[in-house]
Amino acid sequence: MGFVLASMGSAVGLGNVWRFPYIAGQYGGAAFILLYIACVLAVGVPLLLAEFLIGRKTQRNPVGAFRTLRPGSPWVFTGWLGVSAGFVILSYYGVVAGWVLHYVYLSASNAFVGTSPEQITDLFTRLSSNRWLQICWLMIFMLLTIGVVSRGISRGIEAGNKIMMPLLFALLLGLLFYALQTPGAISGVDFLLRPEWEKLGRIAVLEALGQALFSLSLGMGAMITYGSYLSRDTSLVRCSFFVAIGDTSVAILAGFVVFPIVFSFGLEPSAGPGLIFQTLPIAFAQLPGGYWVALAFFVLLSFAALTSAISLLEVACAYFIDEQRWSRQRSSWTLGSAIFLLGVPSALGGEFLGFMDSLATNYLLPIGALLIAVFTGWGLGRDERRAEFTHADAAGFRFTGWAFLIRFVTPVALVLIFLHQLRVF
Ligand code: TRP
Repeated sequence: MGFVLASMGSAVGLGNVWRFPYIAGQYGGAAFILLYIACVLAVGVPLLLAEFLIGRKTQRNPVGAFRTLRPGSPWVFTGWLGVSAGFVILSYYGVVAGWVLHYVYLSASNAFVGTSPEQITDLFTRLSSNRWLQICWLMIFMLLTIGVVSRGISRGIEAGNKIMMPLLFALLLGLLFYALQTPGAISGVDFLLRPEWEKLGRIAVLEALGQALFSLSLGMGAMITYGSYLSRDTSLVRCSFFVAIGDTSVAILAGFVVFPIVFSFGLEPSAGPGLIFQTLPIAFAQLPGGYWVALAFFVLLSFAALTSAISLLEVACAYFIDEQRWSRQRSSWTLGSAIFLLGVPSALGGEFLGFMDSLATNYLLPIGALLIAVFTGWGLGRDERRAEFTHADAAGFRFTGWAFLIRFVTPVALVLIFLHQLRVF
């Protein structure tokens, strides 16, 4: 249970509450969500299991893991790619987490209650055009992340996870009841449930895949690192399903909170990265006790962002600690500062944040995912794979089913999505 919650802490983050609703909004709602669920099942779950398997087998960081399993082979490049992807992702993830911190501040100073919807949407516009403010918040968020990682993933964070994750879920559930009573709720639910396939553009499939990988923390070895915490007798199959189901429910729940509000207050479903910052505070402003709900929500969301950011920084740190013999202090401060610098251009406004996001989710993560799938499915031998399955799982369909998915379905899906994107068909 502790392990599942820790991996859930990495998986559940801004990807679920910030990214999923706005991407789903841009790609037409229901049809995108169905594609997303297909990606979670065909690519996400098998890959989650593959990363846990590599991690538990080797007890290493991603670079060390490939080195241990196939010494001197080019597979180690997969680990390198993962370390670089962690850098790229955390640099802009920190900027968005900085926005969340700013909203903690806004909620604490009672900026939403008694404010009109127009003024509330304007608060986000003002933040995104203020470079210094964004850089300051990015710095504060990176200091928090470095602070935790430099002390080691302490019990504190794990205990915090156990309390805060269920609280975030409960709060979202509460907000769902409110959202479903707003006047435009029907249109919002309709948008999420009635697929209009013609709205899906060419790139939508790639976006759905990228979102599934991002949300489940896959494709860069973060789950390899977490897998090394797993005890030998735990079923990888069950863990993978738990994490995937938990993560996907939070994302879909967030969608059902956001879109009724979007339609009730005449906002644009395709508003982009500002979507949750412009919609949820409108709901908070109208709710009885809205001051506390807003504060609780943004505090919990910052915590979810922090536990994800920790896993992003930890991958690179684990590599420098294990393979380069750096101290934990030195690696967390050096790498954290480098990531902060890389994040500054994303905080300046303009296109850079979107560019980094698309570089990571549309290229680095799918390529990493393909390499991990091919390695687990074809690089490892059947007995090497099977040894990591519990007795009950190894005997039956669970092992053969997964082996089939990771050898054929996952890599083929990844390659097809790429070819489609490159307009080969
Ligand atoms: N999954 C996290 C989220 O949804 C982000 C994240 C953490 C991540 N670690 C990762 C994404 C590793 C890709 C790879 O917010």
